[in-house]
Amino acid sequence: MKSGTLIAFEGIDGSGKSTQLPRLAARLRAAGHAVLCSGEPWEGCEAGRRIRRMARSGQRVPARTELAWFVEQRRAHLRERVLPALERGEIVLLHRYYLSSVAYQGARGLDWREILAAHPAPEFPAPDLVLLLDLPPTAGLARVEARAAAAEPAFEERAFLESVREIFLALRLPSLARIAAAAAPAEVEREIARCVAQRLALPANTAGAEPAPGYS
Ligand code: TYD
Repeated sequence: MKSGTLIAFEGIDGSGKSTQLPRLAARLRAAGHAVLCSGEPWEGCEAGRRIRRMARSGQRVPARTELAWFVEQRRAHLRERVLPALERGEIVLLHRYYLSSVAYQGARGLDWREILAAHPAPEFPAPDLVLLLDLPPTAGLARVEARAAAAEPAFEERAFLESVREIFLALRLPSLARIAAAAAPAEVEREIARCVAQRLALPANTAGAEPAPGYS
């Protein structure tokens, strides 16, 4: 049985998930919590590695195949990494979870109901909190281009990301918090900490914990 807390970071490419996730982890650890950081696509299984190869090659597979691959890696990731940590009572911070499938495979034309139906509980637990880092694709892409990491052109065209963002913004879920992500990283970090403290009733010192090393 799940007794921990599941927090998912969502948002378009370049919205700051990779920057903010370790910062929140550091704050939560400073407040005494056990935290597991992980994310998708999870390369600990064949489906995750297949997705990475596809993204790097720029080749696409049909949307429904893509969805099946994401669901497959998610199932393995949950079983092998996420659920055991939740059972130990830890806080799990995920870089992307199933709302990425709703938004990205939805933007490729699949019906959101079909995508959600592929994620039944309890195998795919609903997140306790979704932090949706929101910013316009132009800004996100500028950040992606400025990064040294190899671009993944299959996923990163602007018009496509506009649709992805629209789907994210149309989601109406009580667990979802929209965070304005165009602000400076330190400001976004404080906003996220405030949101986590408020929504999950984690110890109040979360918001005032020492910043992560490398904080600027
Ligand atoms: P990600 O690791 O976020 O890419 P990066 O580290 O380059 O920002 O994810 C790779 C791509 O996979 C990203 O463009 C979004 C896409 N994706 C989906 O299309 N569906 C999904 O369910 C998930 C988890 C990711």
